[in-house]
Amino acid sequence: MFSSSITAEELRSRYLNFFRERDHAVIPSASLIPENDPSVLFTTAGMHPLTPYLLGRPHPAGKRLVDAQKCIRTTDIDEVGDESHLTFFEMLGNWSLGDYFKKDSINWSWEFLTGAEWLGIDPDRIYVTVFAGDENAPRDEEAARIWRELGMPEERINYLEAEHNWWAAGDEGPCGPDTEIFVDLTGKPCKGEETCVAGVCKCGRFFEVWNNVFMEYNRTAGTLERLPAQNVDTGMGLERTLAVLNGVATVYETSAFQPLIQALAAVSAHSYEAITADPKLTRAMRVVSDHLRASVFILGDTRTVTPSNQGAGYVLRRLIRRAIRFCEPLGIEPAAWAAAARQVIDQYGDAYPELRENAERIHHELGLERERFGKTLGKGTQLLLQEIERLRASNADALPGEIAFRLYDTYGFPIEFTQELAGEHGLSVDLDEFQRRFGEHRERSKSDSAKSGLADRSEASVRYHTATHLLHAALKKVLGDHVQQKGSNITAERMRFDFAHLKPMSPEEIQETERLVQDAIDRGLPVTSEVMKYPDARASGAIGLFEDRYGNDVSVYTIGDFSKEVCAGPHVSNTSEIGRFKIEKEQSSSAGVRRIRAVIS
Ligand code: ALA
Repeated sequence: MFSSSITAEELRSRYLNFFRERDHAVIPSASLIPENDPSVLFTTAGMHPLTPYLLGRPHPAGKRLVDAQKCIRTTDIDEVGDESHLTFFEMLGNWSLGDYFKKDSINWSWEFLTGAEWLGIDPDRIYVTVFAGDENAPRDEEAARIWRELGMPEERINYLEAEHNWWAAGDEGPCGPDTEIFVDLTGKPCKGEETCVAGVCKCGRFFEVWNNVFMEYNRTAGTLERLPAQNVDTGMGLERTLAVLNGVATVYETSAFQPLIQALAAVSAHSYEAITADPKLTRAMRVVSDHLRASVFILGDTRTVTPSNQGAGYVLRRLIRRAIRFCEPLGIEPAAWAAAARQVIDQYGDAYPELRENAERIHHELGLERERFGKTLGKGTQLLLQEIERLRASNADALPGEIAFRLYDTYGFPIEFTQELAGEHGLSVDLDEFQRRFGEHRERSKSDSAKSGLADRSEASVRYHTATHLLHAALKKVLGDHVQQKGSNITAERMRFDFAHLKPMSPEEIQETERLVQDAIDRGLPVTSEVMKYPDARASGAIGLFEDRYGNDVSVYTIGDFSKEVCAGPHVSNTSEIGRFKIEKEQSSSAGVRRIRAVIS
């Protein structure tokens, strides 16, 4: 019925070309780790990175933009394995920043979807929904009229409430009514015409391919205001649309996934045919392929995230560990699973060059996390299964929080992972008890790490503290922007500084770093501080921003032209107070983290 042979690459480039021909600037995908939006761990939609421009700041590339944005949605990780949930996906989007509005937006969507030289979807298969109106904004008769003018019959335009046709990225920020575009896959209502309605019925007949949001509002502190301009934000899920075009039932059967799935099947104990014939193996294959793609994109991002126990790093850890668990039924060696990262990098490296640039980090971190978890997975699973048997015998229905915590703490099982495993045996997990133990554990490690801050405010420690900022800035200059502080420990006698970097430093790099720090000291640079709002600190180029400071006022310390960093102080007032700086040792601290020990005299 549709252009069944179109590939992911073709769909992406056709989309970008269509809008390029209509005067849109093609902008690169922003990082998966949001820069402008502290409310989410990952970029979940194309609009996230563009929020400041939707709010009115001029975009350097102009008022008409088009992009393919990397997105991660993590709320449903445990659902991945069914037909439609994905963690990583690409969102195609075209944008008007106060330029065109509903008419052009809808007309172009129609032309792209149905035009023979574009996607060539049969117009009779297309259904749309528009906003029905409420106390916030009127019924969107304008959008409906534009659809009618394009020949859309009345019965294929549904007016729906805000729950369906009002789009916002979160509780605050730019938002507005939208019109959603669906393709009718079966041509038949599931039960009756009355209930089998696009946008409402979940029977699978209607597949949403595009969402056009008319962003002319902004919500702040619960009130809705008009934005300075009328904007358009559209989003087309690339993998989903590809499934519709290819006439296949799931995204996993499209060219976005098939090369990876074939590569994984080749290293599985089962044949591709055997996997597709068995629902359990099919689910496992979906999990391992989705999670590998997502992990490669997170690890290959321009902003460094590595597996850890918090924030984005924790999500990454969960993805890798969950995938490793699902390798087992497939008979895939975790090492072979991790090696298939090569396939993802090759497939997406042209569209997302950062994957090639960071290939070494991707392989390195996947390998490390696999090794860390490989050591404990078997033992942990054994413990869990014994426990499950014991509980079954005593007719209990919940796994004690203490066991869940032991699995977390000793065996590295993310709690969601334990819940999923227990759930497979009909057991829930005592989360309250788990949280209580987790909280105690966190308090303990907090007090441990508090000691690693500026433990005392003696003059010597303060000098070291300022030297730490100089060292941080110098390392970025010598090794590159990926250098990020991972920890620091200062006493009156020495400083230790941990930072993200994959390789040992060469003697030349160490020497150059030392020279830059000493030069900044010798120049007698003034150290000044000011209090700023978080976004202003970011915009000023300050480094060392930590998540818990988001949204608050932060103090930014500037050292001449050399360093600008968010920090609580205290510092010397001029670098000349520091003295002689010497790096004594450079060594590995933990996976992907180096440690420098330095002294001043
Ligand atoms: N921002 C809109 C969405 O993600 C287009 O659906």
